[in-house]
Amino acid sequence: MDSILIRGGNPLRGTIQISGAKNAALPLMTATLLTDEPVTLTNVPALADIRTMAELLAEFGCKAEDQGNNSWQFNTPEITGTVAPYDIVRKMRASVLVLGPLLARTGEAKVSLPGGCAIGTRPVNIHIQGLEALGAEIEIEGGYIHATAPRGLTGTTVTMPVVSVGATENLLMAAALAEGTTVLENAAREPEIGDLIDLLVAMGAVVAGRGTDRITITGQPALHGAAHRVIPDRIETGTFAVAAAITGGDILLTGADHDIVEAILAPLQRSGASVDLLEGGIRVRRDGAGILGVDVMTEPYPGFPTDMQAQFMALMSISHSAAMITETIFENRFMHVPELGRMGADITVHDSSAMVRGVRRLKGAPVMATDLRASVSLVLAGLAAEGETQVNRVYHLDRGYERLEEKLKACGADIERVSGN
Ligand code: UD1
Repeated sequence: MDSILIRGGNPLRGTIQISGAKNAALPLMTATLLTDEPVTLTNVPALADIRTMAELLAEFGCKAEDQGNNSWQFNTPEITGTVAPYDIVRKMRASVLVLGPLLARTGEAKVSLPGGCAIGTRPVNIHIQGLEALGAEIEIEGGYIHATAPRGLTGTTVTMPVVSVGATENLLMAAALAEGTTVLENAAREPEIGDLIDLLVAMGAVVAGRGTDRITITGQPALHGAAHRVIPDRIETGTFAVAAAITGGDILLTGADHDIVEAILAPLQRSGASVDLLEGGIRVRRDGAGILGVDVMTEPYPGFPTDMQAQFMALMSISHSAAMITETIFENRFMHVPELGRMGADITVHDSSAMVRGVRRLKGAPVMATDLRASVSLVLAGLAAEGETQVNRVYHLDRGYERLEEKLKACGADIERVSGN
């Protein structure tokens, strides 16, 4: 298995082009199932998860064509299958986003329950309850969610008990082809949902309330083809902003969207980094000044994102003071804590909060993590650490970061990928 070797200590200086957002591109790809006409997406990041989603869509008769230059065309003239098999779904939880579009277009979908820790800690009950409210009949059998809508889907008001990005996306897509009007209350407001609404509207959907927690969808009998550019990745932007701050460097993030990263950049600035919002990008730097401890709590958008929690913790681990990091979205999303500890970080976890007491320096070590953002937090820690860090299980990084080593290397990082057996 490949690993990444980092010799830390270089301040990163240079320019990094921000890629399209993985978490926007995946639901956009599933939305292409809603029409029998071709849909073109540009600025699609070249990532393992995108290829997995293309493979999944092929199960339903979608011809997914990588046209090069981050452009893809998706064409599903006819739905030829309605089963999302366990073997693909277990690799990527976002597979559950095919449920709404398949059900709306064909009246049937059979989607494997996401594997691993999914049931229990990451349930899909809100997706299921919402689709049932729209008239679907759903049974869980043999590890599969089997949904049918013999009389089609009918619009209604759905109040989601918890703010869920995925459930909001699934219901938006299902409602786009439902009979009548659907109101989604307590909807998630993440920018990736705004991007999905933009594509749906370009395909002929009628949607009001973009950017709010109350979205109204007037169902249409059919949607048509469209072309759409994926928004920039705000988590990638935040990750490289932390790379500049943690190494005392100076990075220009080109193509980053100012409007969607405020909650990430504000605590970074409070910690002592300088942030300049420029036309066409964002410059993040930290001079000789030390890093101040800043408390953060993860929240649904527009709060601080859970997908930035691990990276911010890496930064806080070398602050001059202490920081309390509280995770409110996922229980125990602290898998990176013991690994950062192996590098010398001083972190104590109590329930959903981590007390991070800054240490003067981290020291390189062999580490590994079990999820994407935890893995990249170890890369960030390695960039700032003394000596050599070996990050194992890098396939997590390939799921979500396009050309990570190349982008960091171009800014002066001493980083390389080592092929393993
Ligand atoms: C999406 C993102 C993920 C991010 C997360 C929160 C994608 C592909 N993934 O995941 O990177 O970390 O949003 O910003 O966009 N919940 C339920 N029942 C449900 C659904 C969710 O209880 O049916 C709970 C979850 O356990 C969690 C919370 O709701 O505690 C938020 O999860 P959700 O917003 O649904 O996350 P995802 O859409 O899976």
